[in-house]
Amino acid sequence: HTDATPFVPARAGLPGLRRAATACRGCDLYRDATQVVFGRGPATAEVVLVGEQPGDREDIEGTPFVGPAGRVLDRGLREAGIDRDRAYLTNAVKHFGFTRGGTGKPRPHRQPNRTERVACRPWLLAELAVVRPRLVVALGAVAAKSLLGDSFRVTRHRGEPQRFPAGELGPRRSAPDHLIATVHPSAVLRARDREDAYAGFLADLTAAADLLR
Ligand code: URA
Repeated sequence: HTDATPFVPARAGLPGLRRAATACRGCDLYRDATQVVFGRGPATAEVVLVGEQPGDREDIEGTPFVGPAGRVLDRGLREAGIDRDRAYLTNAVKHFGFTRGGTGKPRPHRQPNRTERVACRPWLLAELAVVRPRLVVALGAVAAKSLLGDSFRVTRHRGEPQRFPAGELGPRRSAPDHLIATVHPSAVLRARDREDAYAGFLADLTAAADLLR
């Protein structure tokens, strides 16, 4: 298979999508991952936050953003005035990724490649079509490219309101009103100056939250 399209049921709600995703073979990541980590949150959410790919904690627990990056995200959401319990959290790629070294032994890898991102995109679009949020926040380059295309640069356009690409959710689905990209919360953890990186992350989340007011 070249992508998830054949596995995404038409007209399913979130529970139906979640169930179907367990059988996805749209790329090879399912082979080594513990389980699919589908999005979490209410179907009525006004805000959808899109991460990159589950980490090792998420792979084990089956829930997005439960590890260290999730704690940075939680703090940012709280301080920006976005209620996490009323937001829908998901990832651009829904399985944890390993690479195989020369020995063939799987090792964790850090960023999903373009093939995996493109293969998984139908799941993200299906989630957005069901939830129909007012605001989408792309957390990092992988999520931003999935939503806005390969040429989008988070470093250049973070915190700037973007237009959601027309027609992506099907002809009768209204697109989200707002889309903003920022850095990934784990980039905040990796930054040399964490406080500065966090301040920038919070400024972007606050700009996003302001769009809803
Ligand atoms: N990083 C992500 O992008 N998503 C998660 O769910 C966890 C860490």
